[in-house]
Amino acid sequence: MTGSPSLDALPAGLVSLADHEAHARTRLDDKAWAYFSGGAADELTLAANRRSWDTLQLLPRVLRPLSGGHTRVQLLGRTLAHPILLAPVAFQRMAHPDGELATAHAAAALGAGLVLSTQASIPLETVARAVRDETSRGPLWFQLYLQDDRGCTRELVQRAETAGYEALVLTVDAPVHGARDRERRAGFALPPGVRAVNLEGQPPATQPRLMPGQSALFDGLLRRAPTWDDLAWLQTQTRLPILLKGVLHPEDARQAAGLNVAGLVVSNHGGRTLDTAPTTAAVLPRIADALGGTLPLLVDGGIRRGTDVLKALALGASAVLVGRPYVYGLANAGALGVAHVLRLLRDELEVAMALCGCRTLEQIPPDLLWPSS
Ligand code: FNR
Ligand code: LAC
Repeated sequence: MTGSPSLDALPAGLVSLADHEAHARTRLDDKAWAYFSGGAADELTLAANRRSWDTLQLLPRVLRPLSGGHTRVQLLGRTLAHPILLAPVAFQRMAHPDGELATAHAAAALGAGLVLSTQASIPLETVARAVRDETSRGPLWFQLYLQDDRGCTRELVQRAETAGYEALVLTVDAPVHGARDRERRAGFALPPGVRAVNLEGQPPATQPRLMPGQSALFDGLLRRAPTWDDLAWLQTQTRLPILLKGVLHPEDARQAAGLNVAGLVVSNHGGRTLDTAPTTAAVLPRIADALGGTLPLLVDGGIRRGTDVLKALALGASAVLVGRPYVYGLANAGALGVAHVLRLLRDELEVAMALCGCRTLEQIPPDLLWPSS
C-alpha cells in the first residue's frame, strides 16, 4: 500500500447518501454487506434510528438575513468547519483496499473529524502520519476499547498519543457484541488479510475454568468488563481528553459529567448492540436537559441527511458522527467516495440552514423543531 489512496472514479448518478448505500450493495459481497449494514437481532433500533430523524419536522423561517452564513462550530476548544465527524468503524479494508487510509485522507480534505477504531485494519500510526500535518483537517481522535489487560490498554493509549491523536473516544456500550443474527446467517468471518492490526501482539485472552452454575458470559468473557473505576484509571494514564461513546441513560450522563470527561457521544452503536434500545434522537434531548450544557454532546445513529444534522443540533448536540454512509462511499469509490458523502451531507446542511433562516449553527431558534403531536 502506498501513502496516498488510489484514485477511483465516482459512479454516476449518486446524489444522496441513500444512493451511496444502494450502490454499495452492488459492490460488497453478502458477508461484508451483512457486517457493515447489519444491526443486532431484529434490527428494530437500527430501523428506528432512521425513522426517528425522519419523523422530526423543521419549521422554516423566511426573509431572514443569510449572507455571511457558515457551518462552523466550536468543539473541545477548536473551531471546526462543520459539525460532521466520521464515526469509528472497524475493518474498513473489507470495503476497499485503502481502508481507513482513504477515509482519513477524505476526512482531512473535507475538514471532517475522524475517529479511528481500535479495530481498524490499518496501523493507527500509518493513518495519523498520513493526515496529521494537513492544515485544514478536522480533529483526529482514537476510539478506545479497553482491553482485558491494563498493560495492553496503556500501550495502545501511549501509541495513540505518540502518533498525534488528540482525544480518546472510549466506547462503553459494547462489552459484548449484540446478537448479530444477520452476520450469523451470512456466515460472516473476516476475509484473509483483514485484521485488527492494532491489537496484534497482545497475549491471547485466557478463559477461566468455570465452576458448575457459572455463566460463560458473566464469569468468562465479561469477568473483566470495564467499569467506572476503569474510566478513572484511564484518566490517570493519559493527558488526552476522554469522550464516552455509547451513553443513553441520563444518569450515566450525569455520572460521566461528574468524572470530568470531555464530552459524550449519545449513541446506540448504530443499532448493533442492544436491540430495542431507544433511538438517539429520542434520548438526546433528555441527556441535554440532564446536563444543562455542561458537556459537549455528540450524537450518531441513522444520520443520513443535512436536515438530520440540523435536527441533532437543535436537540442539543454540538456535532454529529456518521458511520455506515461513509463506508458505503468508501466501497463505491475509495477516498473520493468518502469525500463525496461528506460533501453531500455538508451541502445539504447548508441548504437546510438557509431554508430555516439559520445563518449560523449558534443561532438555531428554539422553535426550529415542530412540536410532535
Ligand atoms: C461500528 N461502530 C463502532 N463503534 C465503535 O466505537 N468502535 C468500532 O470499532 C465500531 N465498529 C463499527 C463497525 C460497523 C460496521 C458499524 C456499522 C458501526 C459504531 C459506529 O461508531 C457508530 O456508532 C454507528 O455506526 C452510527 O450509526 P450509523 O451512522 O452507522 O447509522
Ligand atoms: C462493531 C464493533 C467492532 O460494531 O464495534 O462491529
